[in-house]
This record gives sequence, C-alpha cells and structure tokens, in this order.
Amino acid sequence: MNEQSPVDAPVAKAKPVLPNAQTVTKVTHYTDRLFSFRVTRPQSLRFRSGEFVMIGLMGDNGKPLLRAYSIASPSWDDELEFYSIKVPDGPLTSKLQNIKVGDEIIVRPKPVGTLVHDALLPGKRVWFFATGTGFAPFASLLREPETYEKFEEVIITHTCRDVAELEYGRKLIEGLKQDPLIGELVEDKVKYYPTTTREESPKMGRITTLIENGQVFKDLDIAPLNPETDRGMVCGSLEFNKDIAAIMENAGLKEGSNSMPAEFVIEKAFVG
Ligand SMILES: Cc1cc2nc3c(=O)[nH]c(=O)nc-3n(C[C@H](O)[C@H](O)[C@H](O)COP(=O)(O)OP(=O)(O)OC[C@H]3O[C@@H](n4cnc5c(N)ncnc54)[C@H](O)[C@@H]3O)c2cc1C
Ligand SMILES: NC(=O)c1ccc[n+]([C@@H]2O[C@H](COP(=O)([O-])OP(=O)(O)OC[C@H]3O[C@@H](n4cnc5c(N)ncnc54)[C@H](OP(=O)(O)O)[C@@H]3O)[C@@H](O)[C@H]2O)c1
Repeated sequence: MNEQSPVDAPVAKAKPVLPNAQTVTKVTHYTDRLFSFRVTRPQSLRFRSGEFVMIGLMGDNGKPLLRAYSIASPSWDDELEFYSIKVPDGPLTSKLQNIKVGDEIIVRPKPVGTLVHDALLPGKRVWFFATGTGFAPFASLLREPETYEKFEEVIITHTCRDVAELEYGRKLIEGLKQDPLIGELVEDKVKYYPTTTREESPKMGRITTLIENGQVFKDLDIAPLNPETDRGMVCGSLEFNKDIAAIMENAGLKEGSNSMPAEFVIEKAFVG
C-alpha cells in the first residue's frame, strides 16, 4: 500500500492571509533612493485627490507594519499609485523596495489629509510646493480635473538635491497634456519649476531662496504672492514646511484646513 496515512501526508504551508491585501501591478525604480509602484484599488476606497492612507507589509512579528503614504494617483484612477523613498535601514522601506508585480501589500482604506481642494478657497492661481517625495500628493492633484476647473494657473515647484530625483515628476508633467482624461483641461495651465540644490541643473537653489529673492516670479513672469489671487499647497520636510508657511504668512495668506478653508495648506512628506 503506497497511500500515505493522514499522519505522514505533507502539510501544505498556508500562505499568511494579509489584511486589506492589494496586488502590485507595476514597479518603477528611479534611483537607489526612490521608486514608484501601482497596486489594485480596494473596492471600498473612495478618496479625495491629495489624501494619504496607511500602507505596508506584514512585519516579522506577524503584525502589520504600516506607514503613511500619499496616494499619488488621482481619485478617478482604477488603480492606486505610490511614490516612495528607500530608507536603507527603514523598517518598512528596506523591505518594500523589493516588491515585485504580483506581490501583495496592505492598503488600509481610510484616506485622510489636508492637501485637498476642499481646504482651499477659490483663487486665480494655485502653487504646489514640493521637496523630495513631497511630490506624491501633487502627482495626484496634477491629474485631478478639479485642479483645472478651480484655477487658471497651476504652478508646481519641486526642489531636490540631485537631477535624478526630479525624474518621476518630470515624466508625469510631460505626460499631462497627452492624458486622454485630463489633457484638454490642462492646456497650458501648468508651469513646472524644478530646482536642484546639490547637483548642477538649469535652475539651482532652494525654492524658498528663489521666492525671497524674487527670481521665481521673474522666471515665470508672474506677480508676487498675493492673498487675493494665490493659493498654496505645501509638502516637504518639517523645516521646509515651516519656511514656506512663514513666506506665505508674510505675503498675507492664511493657513486653512478641511473645516476652515483658507489660502494655503500643509502636510509633512515624512516625520523626522
Ligand atoms: C502624512 C505623511 C505622508 C507620507 N507620504 C509618503 C509618501 O508618499 N512617500 C514616501 O516615501 N514616504 C511618505 N511618508 C513617509 C512614510 O510614512 C515612511 O516614513 C517612509 O516610508 C519610511 O518608512 P520606514 O519604515 O522605512 O522608515 P521610518 O522609520 O518611517 O523613517 C526613517 C527615517 O527616514 C527618513 N524618511 C522617511 N520617509 C522619508 C521620505 N519620504 N523622504 C525622505 N526621508 C524620509 C526620516 O528621516 C525618518 O526619520 C509620509 C509620511 C507622512 C507623515
Ligand atoms: N537626497 C539624497 O541624496 C540623500 C542621500 C542619503 C541620505 N539622505 C537623507 O535622507 C533624508 C531626506 O533627504 P531628502 O533629500 O529626501 O530630503 P531633504 O533633506 O528634505 O531635501 C530635499 C530638498 O529640499 C531642500 N530643502 C530642505 N530643507 C529645506 C528648507 N527648509 N527650505 C527649502 N528647501 C529645503 C533640500 O535642499 P538642501 O540640499 O539645500 O538641503 C533638497 O534640495 C535626510 O535625512 C538625508 O540626510 C538623502
């Protein structure tokens, strides 16, 4: 008799069931510190372009290891896109950077955040100020029809240390006019202002300096910040956010929130 008794039969190892699992559909690496990826969208997830959710992987201790991530795709997209740092010894991103198409990650379907149109009063022109991965919420808002319905001009500034760190944003902006859904709305409304601080590029310097010395207004041929016409959304390090907030307040713009819309809003791109 060659039948195995139930005791001898090999036990199939069950794959751990991931809570709120979504499947990776695309991964793109830009530098040794930056990558983007797309995942399936939870059916129950409704969000406003610019919001963030908690995403992650199962930790070695069997508990979900989650971090806040801005959704980089717009609210109408069938999938979710994220733009991520790779922190070499980061608890999440040291592992997340190795994901491949077909892998599963956790996406908690509870979006929140202040970088949303509802938190800004109407105006003529909206400024999106980003450093590093702080570009992520604007990757969503730049593909959101409401951005173009609400504003005549959309200015996106992105400051990074090196040229390669601008690549994700540059490609996205390059493709806006060809986008079948929003291309017509975009027209010539978007002004892109990329700057680097540690590698030579056509525009060098921190955006804060370029605002303070008036260079950005000269380069873009627009008037200085004015609370009547200008609105702003800010996403970078804590220091960056503080510095831009001070510039906005000096120009007479007030910080808003979901419950009290005003002239500018802020979100941290990371903690620490
Ligand atoms: C509201 C919010 C939205 C966020 N959205 C994004 C996003 O869209 N993309 C993204 O990559 N990260 C985002 N983050 C940061 C993210 O939550 C994690 O911190 C990051 O994924 C690293 O996780 P970790 O566990 O590997 O390391 P952590 O222990 O979380 O971080 C270790 C250290 O790495 C540095 N660091 C962390 N994140 C970044 C970053 N994004 N850029 C530069 N340095 C960083 C900080 O110095 C931090 O102290 C967001 C954070 C907040 C608060
Ligand atoms: N980017 C890298 O190549 C690199 C490599 C290894 C480790 N890290 C670490 O990763 C962390 C995050 O680095 P990051 O480059 O993603 O983010 P970051 O340090 O916040 O810098 C991103 C960009 O924002 C600018 N910036 C920073 N603070 C500003 C402020 N207050 N006002 C105006 N502009 C400001 C920086 O200019 P400045 O260059 O003038 O600061 C840089 O161009 C840091 O702890 C860093 O030590 C980064």
